Amino acid sequence: MSDLPLIQVRELKKYFYPKKGQVLKAVDNVSFDIPRGTTLGLVGESGCGKTTVGRTILRLYERDSGSVLFDGIDVHGVSRREYKALTRRMQMIFQDPYASLDPRFTVGDIVAEGIDNHGLCATRAERTEKIYRLLEMVGLNREHASRFPHEFSGGQRQRVGIARALAVDPEFIVCDEAISALDVSIQAQVINLLMELQGELGLTYLFIAHDLSMVRHISDRTAVMYLGQVVEHAETDELFTNPLHPYTKGLLAAVPRADPRWERSRERRLMTGEVPSPINPQPGCRFCARCPLATDECRHEDPELREAAPGHFVACRHV
Ligand SMILES: Nc1ncnc2c1ncn2[C@@H]1O[C@H](COP(=O)(O)OP(=O)(O)OP(=O)(O)O)[C@@H](O)[C@H]1O
Ligand SMILES: [Mg+2]
Repeated sequence: MSDLPLIQVRELKKYFYPKKGQVLKAVDNVSFDIPRGTTLGLVGESGCGKTTVGRTILRLYERDSGSVLFDGIDVHGVSRREYKALTRRMQMIFQDPYASLDPRFTVGDIVAEGIDNHGLCATRAERTEKIYRLLEMVGLNREHASRFPHEFSGGQRQRVGIARALAVDPEFIVCDEAISALDVSIQAQVINLLMELQGELGLTYLFIAHDLSMVRHISDRTAVMYLGQVVEHAETDELFTNPLHPYTKGLLAAVPRADPRWERSRERRLMTGEVPSPINPQPGCRFCARCPLATDECRHEDPELREAAPGHFVACRHV
């Protein structure tokens, strides 16, 4: 296995154009690596561009500029035929296990979708065996293959979604809020399943989530996004114990804890102000309007993402 990170994202931009004269910079100059067999957590408030990053990496969206290398292959540069071969190696698990499974199909057929698309099984018997094996891998059983999604609980449906993603033997999976819709107790089970599968199969994950405690548990490194940009990126323990960017600090301060003293002081540490619109953003640091450290310089010049400590990147000139 080579040392080359499985995923290399470089200066990636994805803009939307909602109306004439408007540009919505959903992803604006994002760069990071994900080494093989590791998990990158991606966090940030709603609308900051996490899903768009995930979808653009997989080329479910065409990029505006920048690049995504998967195992050294330029995902947005390859031909349609080469891209189809790549789609086998990269999968996505979605937030809503209710909406993402077609209610008209049996669980077996849902799981086999990728097998059928890529012609991975030569015979019917082989296909059935593979479906059974996949269901067992995710903690379901073979009897489930002939049932329909509505007969399952939320946690079980998410297991079906995971089995469907695994069916093509992928190397990389984007988990987009894969557990957010589930009860807390079920969330932990699904996270543990994802971690076990990673150990067994050597999977690489981009794990997108709101819930910071789950991100902390599963991610080797964590990147924090704000309005289309990565503002901080470090090893997970380092990021959670020594956050440098004022936005990361605010985000972490908003996490409830069992400590009553922390809870009493939490209110005054919460971030104030609304997230500004990502449409036609002003030049300068995007966090300015809410930042306690903001100076005139911040309002005029974009901060660079620089390495403040080994492996710890931050985009703030006051750190
Ligand atoms: N297909 C699209 N067309 C136009 N605008 C879009 C599209 N997809 C996303 N956006 C906009 O891009 C920005 C980033 O959206 P995105 O869904 O990536 O955020 P997110 O971080 O995943 O949010 P959430 O936590 O709510 O899932 C938002 O302002 C959103 O309205
Ligand atoms: Mg999203």
